[in-house]
Amino acid sequence: MAFDFRDLAAPVSVAPMAGGPSTPDLAAAGTNAGGLGFVAAGYLSADAFAERLSAATRLTSGPVGANLFVPQPSAGAAEAIDAYAAELAADARRYGAELGEPRVDDDAWQGKLEVLLDVRPAVASFTFGLPDAEEIGRLRGAGITVAGTVTTLAEARLAADRGVDVLVAQGPGAGGHRGTFDATARPSEEPLDDLLAGIVAALDLPVVAAGGLMTAADIARVRAAGAVAAQLGTAFLLADEAGSSPVHRSALTSPEFTETVVTKAFSGRYARGLHNRFVDDHEAGAPFGYPQVHYLTSPLRAAAVRAGDPHGVNVWAGTGFRLAEPAPVAAIIEKLTGG
Ligand SMILES: Cc1cc2nc3c(=O)[nH]c(=O)nc-3n(C[C@H](O)[C@H](O)[C@H](O)COP(=O)(O)O)c2cc1C
Repeated sequence: MAFDFRDLAAPVSVAPMAGGPSTPDLAAAGTNAGGLGFVAAGYLSADAFAERLSAATRLTSGPVGANLFVPQPSAGAAEAIDAYAAELAADARRYGAELGEPRVDDDAWQGKLEVLLDVRPAVASFTFGLPDAEEIGRLRGAGITVAGTVTTLAEARLAADRGVDVLVAQGPGAGGHRGTFDATARPSEEPLDDLLAGIVAALDLPVVAAGGLMTAADIARVRAAGAVAAQLGTAFLLADEAGSSPVHRSALTSPEFTETVVTKAFSGRYARGLHNRFVDDHEAGAPFGYPQVHYLTSPLRAAAVRAGDPHGVNVWAGTGFRLAEPAPVAAIIEKLTGG
């Protein structure tokens, strides 16, 4: 039977969070608490993704979600990326690191689709664009509910036309990368409530709301506006089961950081994180160019994490980060659903 968000005991998704925070434990704990936990495939090999997804499904008898980055046409001009590499040389010296090779790849797209068709999670969600209609048809034919992340009504219409089952409406407060289909567009700043209202009025698909939601009142508000569930990432970054790095955890609670900012300095694609020195130093010079810029800065970011320096790494966080609390996932979900 196809998965329906309306059947969840707790109308909460534990968002996919690639790059460390998403662990099989985090996903399974979200599901075991009555919500829907997600395994993030982004940046992993297809084999590593298969292992994590299988591990999550072993840790719960309930539904599990999986999330993939959709490959996009490369947006980076080689000269602009070379110029950025020159700008980053001083940072490399600071950390005693080499810059990475600014390569282009598709994040193992085909291999990860095969993993989905093999393991068959209840839900497969996508960000940065959409699978093609044939791919969506294969996933649906395997009994997988297909969800598309959208940041505008126009993207929501494209996703509906393409044949997705569910829309994840991601507003501007969201932590991490924006799902914006056009990787070279400044992401929409339309408030989540307006985006949600527009989609609910225009399209006859279930909508999950995401971005800046941190409290039971936030979730009640988006549900009253027609969302079938809320997807929260930042609220779970300090969860016991999350794989967030020690640097990420301590920065989120440090009084030194007072605001988040949308930046392409780390990856060549807009994402929201804590406003730190790397953003101040490099936002102006950073070109579009995902995933090349992601790979270029990767060793610098890894070195900053090893050095315990929150100013040299992307500390992804949504606008509500001050309300994130360390606790088991079950306790966080209970508080969020008024239990
Ligand atoms: C650290 C981090 C990593 C993220 N990674 C992904 C990802 O791999 N795939 C995805 O679709 N969304 C990703 N997101 C975005 C979430 O799905 C969601 O839209 C966002 O967390 C909602 O906003 P909030 O952080 O304010 O709750 C990430 C968010 C964060 C904070």
